[in-house]
Amino acid sequence: MKFFADTADVDAIRELNELGLVDGVTTNPSLVKKSGRDIVEVTREICSFIDGPVSAEVIATEAGAMIEEGRKLAEIAPNIAVKVPLTLDGLKACKVLTGEGKMVNVTLCFSANQALLAAKAGATFISPFVGRLDDISLDGMELISEIRQIYDNYGFETQILAASIRSVNHAKAAALIGADVMTAPPAVIKAMAAHPLTDKGLAAFLKDAKEAGLKIL
Ligand code: E4P
Repeated sequence: MKFFADTADVDAIRELNELGLVDGVTTNPSLVKKSGRDIVEVTREICSFIDGPVSAEVIATEAGAMIEEGRKLAEIAPNIAVKVPLTLDGLKACKVLTGEGKMVNVTLCFSANQALLAAKAGATFISPFVGRLDDISLDGMELISEIRQIYDNYGFETQILAASIRSVNHAKAAALIGADVMTAPPAVIKAMAAHPLTDKGLAAFLKDAKEAGLKIL
Protein backbone atom coordinates (compact mmCIF):
# COMPACT_ATOMS: atom_id res chain seq x y z
CA MET A 1 0.00 0.00 0.00
CA LYS A 2 1.35 3.40 -0.96
CA PHE A 3 1.10 6.28 1.53
CA PHE A 4 0.42 9.79 0.28
CA ALA A 5 0.69 12.76 2.65
CA ASP A 6 -2.58 14.69 2.53
CA THR A 7 -1.27 18.19 3.12
CA ALA A 8 0.34 21.25 1.53
CA ASP A 9 2.46 21.81 4.64
CA VAL A 10 6.00 21.44 3.30
CA ASP A 11 7.63 20.99 6.71
CA ALA A 12 5.20 18.21 7.63
CA ILE A 13 5.86 16.46 4.30
CA ARG A 14 9.63 16.74 4.81
CA GLU A 15 9.38 15.28 8.33
CA LEU A 16 7.30 12.31 7.14
CA ASN A 17 9.54 11.82 4.12
CA GLU A 18 12.57 11.46 6.40
CA LEU A 19 10.75 8.53 8.02
CA GLY A 20 10.42 6.90 4.59
CA LEU A 21 6.65 7.14 4.76
CA VAL A 22 5.84 9.35 1.77
CA ASP A 23 5.15 7.74 -1.61
CA GLY A 24 3.36 10.84 -2.86
CA VAL A 25 1.36 13.88 -1.81
CA THR A 26 -2.22 15.05 -2.28
CA THR A 27 -3.34 18.65 -2.01
CA ASN A 28 -6.65 20.38 -2.61
CA PRO A 29 -7.68 24.06 -2.63
CA SER A 30 -8.57 23.94 1.07
CA LEU A 31 -5.18 22.50 2.02
CA VAL A 32 -3.37 25.10 -0.13
CA LYS A 33 -5.45 27.84 1.54
CA LYS A 34 -4.40 26.46 4.94
CA SER A 35 -0.73 26.65 3.89
CA GLY A 36 -1.17 30.35 3.10
CA ARG A 37 0.94 29.95 -0.04
CA ASP A 38 0.56 30.31 -3.80
CA ILE A 39 -0.59 27.03 -5.38
CA VAL A 40 2.08 26.90 -8.09
CA GLU A 41 4.88 27.93 -5.74
CA VAL A 42 4.03 25.46 -2.96
CA THR A 43 3.40 22.62 -5.43
CA ARG A 44 6.78 23.31 -7.05
CA GLU A 45 8.53 23.15 -3.68
CA ILE A 46 6.83 19.84 -2.83
CA CYS A 47 7.86 18.39 -6.21
CA SER A 48 11.47 19.47 -5.59
CA PHE A 49 11.90 16.69 -3.00
CA ILE A 50 9.05 14.23 -3.58
CA ASP A 51 9.53 11.87 -6.53
CA GLY A 52 6.12 10.17 -6.35
CA PRO A 53 2.82 11.58 -7.61
CA VAL A 54 1.91 15.03 -6.27
CA SER A 55 -1.76 15.86 -6.79
CA ALA A 56 -2.65 19.47 -7.61
CA GLU A 57 -6.31 20.32 -8.13
CA VAL A 58 -7.92 22.42 -10.83
CA ILE A 59 -10.39 25.10 -9.81
CA ALA A 60 -12.27 25.48 -13.11
CA THR A 61 -15.58 23.66 -13.54
CA GLU A 62 -15.89 23.56 -17.34
CA ALA A 63 -13.93 20.85 -19.18
CA GLY A 64 -11.99 23.14 -21.52
CA ALA A 65 -10.83 25.38 -18.69
CA MET A 66 -9.99 22.36 -16.52
CA ILE A 67 -7.82 21.00 -19.32
CA GLU A 68 -5.96 24.32 -19.62
CA GLU A 69 -5.44 24.50 -15.85
CA GLY A 70 -4.39 20.85 -15.82
CA ARG A 71 -1.78 21.49 -18.51
CA LYS A 72 -0.42 24.45 -16.55
CA LEU A 73 -0.23 22.44 -13.32
CA ALA A 74 1.45 19.56 -15.17
CA GLU A 75 4.20 21.94 -16.33
CA ILE A 76 5.32 22.34 -12.71
CA ALA A 77 6.95 18.89 -12.66
CA PRO A 78 6.69 15.51 -14.40
CA ASN A 79 5.26 13.88 -11.26
CA ILE A 80 2.17 16.10 -11.06
CA ALA A 81 -1.15 14.26 -10.95
CA VAL A 82 -3.83 16.68 -12.10
CA LYS A 83 -6.82 16.48 -9.78
CA VAL A 84 -10.24 16.97 -11.32
CA PRO A 85 -13.66 16.68 -9.67
CA LEU A 86 -15.97 13.78 -10.43
CA THR A 87 -18.37 15.65 -12.71
CA LEU A 88 -19.09 15.00 -16.37
CA ASP A 89 -16.77 17.92 -17.22
CA GLY A 90 -14.15 16.46 -14.93
CA LEU A 91 -14.40 13.08 -16.66
CA LYS A 92 -14.03 14.74 -20.05
CA ALA A 93 -10.93 16.60 -18.82
CA CYS A 94 -9.62 13.32 -17.37
CA LYS A 95 -9.89 11.58 -20.72
CA VAL A 96 -8.09 14.39 -22.56
CA LEU A 97 -5.32 14.83 -19.97
CA THR A 98 -4.62 11.10 -19.58
CA GLY A 99 -4.59 10.90 -23.40
CA GLU A 100 -1.73 13.43 -23.28
CA GLY A 101 0.15 11.12 -20.90
CA LYS A 102 -0.56 13.09 -17.73
CA MET A 103 -1.52 11.43 -14.44
CA VAL A 104 -5.05 12.31 -13.37
CA ASN A 105 -6.60 11.92 -9.92
CA VAL A 106 -10.40 12.05 -10.04
CA THR A 107 -11.53 13.44 -6.72
CA LEU A 108 -14.72 13.91 -4.70
CA CYS A 109 -15.91 10.35 -5.39
CA PHE A 110 -18.80 9.25 -3.21
CA SER A 111 -20.30 6.28 -5.09
CA ALA A 112 -19.19 3.08 -6.80
CA ASN A 113 -20.84 4.16 -10.03
CA GLN A 114 -18.82 7.38 -10.02
CA ALA A 115 -15.67 5.29 -9.56
CA LEU A 116 -16.68 3.07 -12.49
CA LEU A 117 -17.03 6.13 -14.72
CA ALA A 118 -13.63 7.46 -13.62
CA ALA A 119 -11.98 4.15 -14.52
CA LYS A 120 -13.65 4.20 -17.94
CA ALA A 121 -12.32 7.74 -18.44
CA GLY A 122 -8.81 6.38 -17.84
CA ALA A 123 -8.18 7.93 -14.42
CA THR A 124 -4.82 7.13 -12.88
CA PHE A 125 -6.30 7.46 -9.38
CA ILE A 126 -9.83 7.53 -8.02
CA SER A 127 -10.27 9.30 -4.68
CA PRO A 128 -13.24 8.00 -2.67
CA PHE A 129 -13.74 10.23 0.40
CA VAL A 130 -14.16 7.89 3.36
CA GLY A 131 -14.39 10.39 6.21
CA ARG A 132 -16.92 12.66 4.54
CA LEU A 133 -19.26 9.68 4.01
CA ASP A 134 -18.84 8.67 7.66
CA ASP A 135 -19.60 12.29 8.60
CA ILE A 136 -23.13 11.89 7.21
CA SER A 137 -23.64 8.46 8.82
CA LEU A 138 -22.85 6.45 5.69
CA ASP A 139 -20.12 3.81 5.47
CA GLY A 140 -17.05 5.16 3.72
CA MET A 141 -15.16 1.88 3.96
CA GLU A 142 -18.03 0.02 2.28
CA LEU A 143 -17.44 2.27 -0.74
CA ILE A 144 -13.76 1.26 -0.85
CA SER A 145 -14.83 -2.42 -0.84
CA GLU A 146 -17.34 -1.90 -3.62
CA ILE A 147 -14.82 -0.10 -5.83
CA ARG A 148 -12.18 -2.78 -5.15
CA GLN A 149 -14.62 -5.47 -6.28
CA ILE A 150 -15.74 -3.61 -9.40
CA TYR A 151 -12.20 -2.74 -10.50
CA ASP A 152 -11.06 -6.34 -9.90
CA ASN A 153 -14.09 -7.72 -11.78
CA TYR A 154 -13.00 -5.95 -14.94
CA GLY A 155 -9.26 -5.52 -14.46
CA PHE A 156 -9.36 -1.71 -14.39
CA GLU A 157 -5.90 -0.30 -13.70
CA THR A 158 -7.14 2.89 -12.00
CA GLN A 159 -5.63 2.95 -8.52
CA ILE A 160 -7.96 3.25 -5.55
CA LEU A 161 -6.67 6.18 -3.47
CA ALA A 162 -8.56 6.04 -0.16
CA ALA A 163 -8.98 9.71 0.76
CA SER A 164 -10.50 11.71 3.59
CA ILE A 165 -8.80 9.29 5.97
CA ARG A 166 -9.29 10.60 9.49
CA SER A 167 -8.04 7.87 11.82
CA VAL A 168 -5.68 4.93 12.23
CA ASN A 169 -8.72 2.63 12.07
CA HIS A 170 -9.57 4.04 8.64
CA ALA A 171 -5.99 3.33 7.57
CA LYS A 172 -6.13 -0.30 8.72
CA ALA A 173 -9.52 -0.93 7.16
CA ALA A 174 -8.42 0.53 3.81
CA ALA A 175 -5.30 -1.67 3.86
CA LEU A 176 -7.33 -4.80 4.69
CA ILE A 177 -9.68 -4.13 1.79
CA GLY A 178 -6.76 -3.61 -0.57
CA ALA A 179 -6.88 0.07 -1.44
CA ASP A 180 -3.82 0.72 -3.62
CA VAL A 181 -3.02 4.02 -1.91
CA MET A 182 -4.08 5.84 1.23
CA THR A 183 -3.78 9.58 1.60
CA ALA A 184 -3.89 10.81 5.17
CA PRO A 185 -2.81 13.79 7.24
CA PRO A 186 0.76 13.32 8.54
CA ALA A 187 -0.56 13.14 12.12
CA VAL A 188 -2.64 10.07 11.26
CA ILE A 189 0.29 8.34 9.53
CA LYS A 190 2.56 9.02 12.51
CA ALA A 191 -0.13 7.83 14.96
CA MET A 192 -0.02 4.41 13.27
CA ALA A 193 3.31 3.81 15.07
CA ALA A 194 1.84 4.27 18.53
CA HIS A 195 0.98 1.42 20.89
CA PRO A 196 0.91 1.57 24.70
CA LEU A 197 2.52 -1.88 24.96
CA THR A 198 5.43 -0.66 22.84
CA ASP A 199 5.93 2.25 25.24
CA LYS A 200 5.58 0.00 28.30
CA GLY A 201 7.94 -2.65 26.89
CA LEU A 202 10.55 -0.07 25.93
CA ALA A 203 10.44 1.50 29.40
CA ALA A 204 11.05 -1.92 30.98
CA PHE A 205 13.93 -2.72 28.61
CA LEU A 206 15.57 0.66 29.28
CA LYS A 207 15.20 0.19 33.04
CA ASP A 208 16.83 -3.26 32.89
CA ALA A 209 19.60 -1.99 30.61
CA LYS A 210 20.38 0.78 33.08
CA GLU A 211 20.31 -1.56 36.08
CA ALA A 212 22.58 -4.05 34.31
CA GLY A 213 24.96 -1.26 33.22
CA LEU A 214 24.68 -2.34 29.56
CA LYS A 215 26.76 -0.39 27.04
CA ILE A 216 26.87 -0.73 23.26
CA LEU A 217 29.00 2.25 22.23
C1 E4P B 1 -7.41 14.29 -0.71
O1 E4P B 1 -7.19 14.05 -1.86
C2 E4P B 1 -8.69 14.86 -0.25
O2 E4P B 1 -8.89 16.12 -0.80
C3 E4P B 1 -8.72 14.88 1.24
O3 E4P B 1 -8.34 13.59 1.71
C4 E4P B 1 -10.04 15.30 1.83
O4 E4P B 1 -10.00 15.10 3.22
P1 E4P B 1 -11.08 15.78 4.20
O5 E4P B 1 -12.41 15.15 3.91
O6 E4P B 1 -10.58 15.43 5.58
O7 E4P B 1 -11.07 17.24 3.92
